[in-house]
Amino acid sequence: MTRSLGDADWWRSAVVYQIYPRSFADADGDGTGDLRGIIQHLPYLAELGVDALWISPWYPSPLLDGGYDVADYRDINPDFGTLDDARELIDSAHRLGIRMLIDLVPNHSSWDHPWFARAVADPAAPERDLYIFRDGRGPDGDEPPSNWPAVFGGSAWRRTTNPDGSPGQWYLHMFDVSQPDWDWSNPAVAEEFDSILRFWFDLGVDGFRIDVADSMAKDLALPDVPIDPRTGEPIVDKFVGSPIWDHTGVDGIHRRWRAVADSYADDPLGARVFVSEAYLTPSERLVRYVEPGRLHTTFNFDALLAEWTAQTQRNVIDATIAAHAKVGAPCTWVLSNHDNQRVATRYGKATTGSSFGPGGVITSDNGQPNMITNDEPTDIALGRRRARAAALLELALPGGAYIYQGDELGLPEVEDLPIEVLQDPIWERSGHTQKGRDGCRVPLPWSGTSAPYGFNSGSEQPWLPQPDDWAEYTVAAQERAPRSHLQLYRAALAERHRNPALGDGDLTWDELDNRDLLSFSRTPGFRCVINFGTESVSLESLSPGATVLLHSGDPDSGVLGADEAVWLSVG
Ligand code: GLC
Repeated sequence: MTRSLGDADWWRSAVVYQIYPRSFADADGDGTGDLRGIIQHLPYLAELGVDALWISPWYPSPLLDGGYDVADYRDINPDFGTLDDARELIDSAHRLGIRMLIDLVPNHSSWDHPWFARAVADPAAPERDLYIFRDGRGPDGDEPPSNWPAVFGGSAWRRTTNPDGSPGQWYLHMFDVSQPDWDWSNPAVAEEFDSILRFWFDLGVDGFRIDVADSMAKDLALPDVPIDPRTGEPIVDKFVGSPIWDHTGVDGIHRRWRAVADSYADDPLGARVFVSEAYLTPSERLVRYVEPGRLHTTFNFDALLAEWTAQTQRNVIDATIAAHAKVGAPCTWVLSNHDNQRVATRYGKATTGSSFGPGGVITSDNGQPNMITNDEPTDIALGRRRARAAALLELALPGGAYIYQGDELGLPEVEDLPIEVLQDPIWERSGHTQKGRDGCRVPLPWSGTSAPYGFNSGSEQPWLPQPDDWAEYTVAAQERAPRSHLQLYRAALAERHRNPALGDGDLTWDELDNRDLLSFSRTPGFRCVINFGTESVSLESLSPGATVLLHSGDPDSGVLGADEAVWLSVG
């Protein structure tokens, strides 16, 4: 099957499927996913109907933060394959009409990057200026240069040892200790990243998801951040004016990258694009990143983190659309990713997300706007029902959408991974108080009735163990079941391609007396209704004479039940 790559504005309405390469499919049987596994399953992705893939980091890496610790930006992790495999994957995806985005990790490298290794080994090495090394405070320099906290817990500074064994300078790592931050005030760093972008653009990638796009520039006078009165610790919030996050300096870096991408405009593939990853709320703050001349789209964490209630969902949709309209950028809609609890599990809990007030997402007690610490009990049937409705909601909204691998199967979070298999650095750095993000990274089930469920055919078990009860979630099982999660996603994406009302554009709310319902229309002739309440509503009373295009519950029921959504064709 060959599909066209579509028009130059494909990214304004693209449905992007996120692949976490370690966990997608393992062709060589060693228990770790690889690029040949992705190549083998491209027909699956084409049949699903996605427009683009975003592949989480595939570079050589010690995988101390799942590949977001890059040791070489111009090669492929040998556990995942080779550069030739990457070329073949890019070309094969393009032949199927699927665009290819990869991850750029510009805030930090791995401590295995040869430049960092040289910088640590020799205080006089020129590579030291590529990273942020500073003397410590206090008489013996044994206090960190500032009180900045690392995202994964503890101080963001680690002290080095000089070649003669004496204590040396400290280096900055905003994430894990194995992820030293680059010094973007050094022009050599900016030049290196221009060259990395060109390397992959020349190989044919269509764009990059920019990891922590709000982090590269910092106030290198290193002012302390305020102390959080709730915890007595330095605050981790991204407050306006933070010396660490969303610093004014990121603007120039984004514009520089945009110029590199735009220089490909006359290339047969067309201009290349960027997706910003930045937890910034409210939307007005976020959309500065997609003003003309900066990045193209932003990953919508307000939507990901929003509670499953009619009011919160409506608020987040309104705020997102209004903010993006002001800068002329398309919205994106997101239910989960590799850093957050899977949506089918989260929506089955008492706390489904964060409420969305005038200031954006209300953060949790520790100031972190994420749900990874939610260990309330789960009603998985409820969560899956809501996840189906949420899929129809997100795919009907104006703009683009993201699907995290496995969400098309309604996979639950694996909440009971044994402590000894945990790999996420959050587990160690939080002092064993947060299990971290491994539960959403368990390898996908493709077929069969027991682990490894077709993830690999060798004798090795997957790098994270799969649950015993995943037989019903496999792709093969869901292909046989007409009303499965997978079939709903396939039908929704097919309708999205067919229906001119869907994708980029706008919506009009249908104001209803029943406050438990959200209903909006898009032209021509399309309506989406979601029932957040507990009572069923007759479809005929909702929209007389309308035809049901898709229903997240039973299409023959004649009603819209609790936590169900419907797509209607209206006259
Ligand atoms: C981003 C990634 C996350 C990673 C972090 C540090 O938030 O999505 O997985 O741990 O950046 O690179």
